[in-house]
Amino acid sequence: MNPDVILPPQVAWASGVFANAPLIRKTTRLADLPDFFSDNNAWRGCDPQQRLYDVETIDSPSGEGALYVGVTHLYAGKIGDEFFMTRGHFHQRREQGEVYFGLCGRGLLLLQTASGEARLERVKPGSVHIIPSFTAHRLINTGDETLSALAVWPSVAGHDYAALAGGFALRVFASDHHLQEWEARND
Ligand code: F6R
Ligand code: ZN
Repeated sequence: MNPDVILPPQVAWASGVFANAPLIRKTTRLADLPDFFSDNNAWRGCDPQQRLYDVETIDSPSGEGALYVGVTHLYAGKIGDEFFMTRGHFHQRREQGEVYFGLCGRGLLLLQTASGEARLERVKPGSVHIIPSFTAHRLINTGDETLSALAVWPSVAGHDYAALAGGFALRVFASDHHLQEWEARND
């Protein structure tokens, strides 16, 4: 006789929607991020309750060696000309890396080293992003649909937002040029 088979959590690759999983949900709204976008007047003119992104994480065991799995749904939009983005962080335990997988929508993953060198990777359905240790990371939605990405990271990694209170070295804006949809500017 076969042993009982457990039905694991499911994720719909095309949307990032979880099923059969206990979830922890966190919503980040515009009001949660004062002095974050470059155009403060534009930020003040927006609905503070506007959702910027939702993160759904599977409620799973933590501890040394344990992994967390979560999906970020970053909505489409701009504050002034600057695209919606996640807060961005280093891991508190800087040696801990992470992997992101693009599920739907189009955008960028901004990566920044401890010495402040920034680079961008294109996020799209099927893209795989290996975030090395000692590297801060932020998602940016440059499209007009929700950008959803699945992340796997060590439960012990923790999040250090304070180290980036002064912002990342790059910001991404809608472009005036017809040939490109976005342009990166040094902060
Ligand atoms: C976990 C991770 C993601 C982010 C999520 C929201 O280490 O990188 O799950 O936590 O994309 O971004 P933050 O945490 O920067 O608000
Ligand atoms: Zn992370």
